[in-house]
Amino acid sequence: MHLTLKLLARTGLRSLIIPKMGCQSRASTYLFWFSNEHSNFRLAELEALFQYFQFDRAILDKRKTNGPFILMDFPDESGPKKLMSRTVLAHSCYELWASGDLLEDLHESMKQNLDLVEPFVNDSFQVRVDTYGKTIQHSEKLPLIETFEYMPLEGKVDLKTPELSLHLIQFYGIDPNRIPEKPYHQYFGRWLVDGQRKLVSKINLKERKFIGNTSMDPLLSLLMANLALVKPNDIVLDPFVGTGSLLVAAALMDAYVVGNDIDYLMLHAKTSSSRARQKKRASDESVRANLRQYGVEDRYLDVVVADTSRPMWKHDFRFDAIITDPPYGIREPTERIGTHRQPAGFKIKEEHLALHIPSKISYTLQDIFSDLLNYSARSLQIGGRVVLWMPISRTEYDQNKLPRNPALALVSNCEQTLTSTASRRLLVYEKIKEPTESCITELDGSALMYRFKFFEVDPASPRKTRKEKSVLEFGRSSKRGQQQPS
Ligand SMILES: C[S@@+](CC[C@H](N)C(=O)[O-])C[C@H]1O[C@@H](n2cnc3c(N)ncnc32)[C@H](O)[C@@H]1O
Repeated sequence: MHLTLKLLARTGLRSLIIPKMGCQSRASTYLFWFSNEHSNFRLAELEALFQYFQFDRAILDKRKTNGPFILMDFPDESGPKKLMSRTVLAHSCYELWASGDLLEDLHESMKQNLDLVEPFVNDSFQVRVDTYGKTIQHSEKLPLIETFEYMPLEGKVDLKTPELSLHLIQFYGIDPNRIPEKPYHQYFGRWLVDGQRKLVSKINLKERKFIGNTSMDPLLSLLMANLALVKPNDIVLDPFVGTGSLLVAAALMDAYVVGNDIDYLMLHAKTSSSRARQKKRASDESVRANLRQYGVEDRYLDVVVADTSRPMWKHDFRFDAIITDPPYGIREPTERIGTHRQPAGFKIKEEHLALHIPSKISYTLQDIFSDLLNYSARSLQIGGRVVLWMPISRTEYDQNKLPRNPALALVSNCEQTLTSTASRRLLVYEKIKEPTESCITELDGSALMYRFKFFEVDPASPRKTRKEKSVLEFGRSSKRGQQQPS
C-alpha cells in the first residue's frame, strides 16, 4: 500500500510562501484514520477522550466523517497528539494540507496553502501514497508522487526516518464489491503521530504469561480503560477479575489495580491451561506476573478470592473506576456463595470457620448486574465510571430495559454483535451523586441474554452442528486459547 519516492523537482515556488507563525500554534484540520475494527465504538472512545483531556466538545460535534476518516479542527497540534496518546481505535493522525475528489482539485487547494510547508522546508522528507478500499501497485504510485513536484521542499529525501512524512491518502469507499476505478476522495497531509495500536500488539494474549478461556481481548481491554477515563494513580477495581486482562490495561494507563474473583483455582492459575498444546500451567502464572511482564508490577495492589455479591472492601472506600466483564453463564457458571438448605440467619460455628468451604448457588444475570450497579453507585468517587459488558438478546433488546440506578448516569452504550440473536453491550455509567437508601438498581431482566437464548438457533436457518455454529457466530474457530465471549 505504501510507496515512498523522491520528489523529483524542486521548483522556485519558495517565493510563494507567505511568512507565518510556527506550526505549533496553527489552527488546522486534523485527519484521524481509524481502524476497521469495532467501528461502532469510535464515537464512544472519542467522547471519553474529549472528556478526559477536557477538550472543547464543539470540536467533536463539528467533526466530519468519511468512511474510516474523521476530520476535526483543533486550535493546535497538542490536542490531536494527546488524543493519539490514548486512542486504540485510530491508527494515525495527519495535519490536513489539502483535499479534493479529483487529484487536480487537491493540487489546486495545496497550491493555495504552500505556506504550510514553510516550517519544514529544510527537513528531510518522504512522500507516500496510502489507499483505503483498493490496493494499487507501486508502479501506479510513482506518477502520483511525481505530481507533487512543485512542493518547495529543500531537505533531503529520507525513506526511513524522515523529519517530514507527507501522505496522499486515497479513499475508494467501503464496499469491497463496488470498488471504483478512481478514488471517491483524496487527502494530502503531514503525518503527525500514530495511536496506541502498538500497545494492543504488545499485550497480545498469545504471548501473555497468564490467560484463560475468557481473557479479554487486548484492544477491548484498553478501550474499556479509556471509556472509564482511567488516569495515572487512580485506583481501579475489577470485581470479576479472572486472569486480570482489564487490570493490565488500567495498569498500563498508570492506575493502581485491584481485583477479586470467586474462583480460587482460576485466580491461583490452578485450572487447566487454556493454551492449545500446553498441558500444564507454569508455576508462576498469575495476574501479578502479567503486570510484571509488561513492566507495570508497581501498579499491582492485589487480587483476592471473594464473591462480588458480598463486597468485602471497606465500606467508605471509593474507587476511581470499575471495569469488568461479568460472567454470562456460557463459558463459566454464574455462582455466588449461598445455600438453599440452611434457614435464614444460620451461622457457622466459630471452630469450623477456618476450614469451611462455602457452598455456592446460582447467581442470576439479573442479580449480577443489579449487585454490580448497586455496588458501583456506592463505592465509586463522584464522576467515577463503571464500564461493563452486558449480554443481550437482540430480539428483546430495548434501551429502556437497561439497568438504571438513580446515582449513575448511562453515558455510553455500544453493541458488539455475537450471533444473529445475541450481542453484548459495552455500558458506561458515571456516578453523579451519592446514593440514598432508596437508590436501588432497576433492571428488567427480559432483555438479558440467558444461556438458553445464546444457543437458540434461528428457526429459519438450516440445522448446524455446534462447531459450525461456533465458527459462524464468532467468525473464527473456537480453538482453545482464543478469546471467546464469557
Ligand atoms: C468473563 S470472566 C472475566 C474474565 C476476565 N476479564 C479476564 O480477562 O480474564 C468472569 C469471571 O467472573 C468470575 N465470577 C463468577 N461469579 C463470581 C462472583 N460471584 N464473584 C466474583 N467473581 C465471580 C468467574 O470466576 C470468572 O473468572
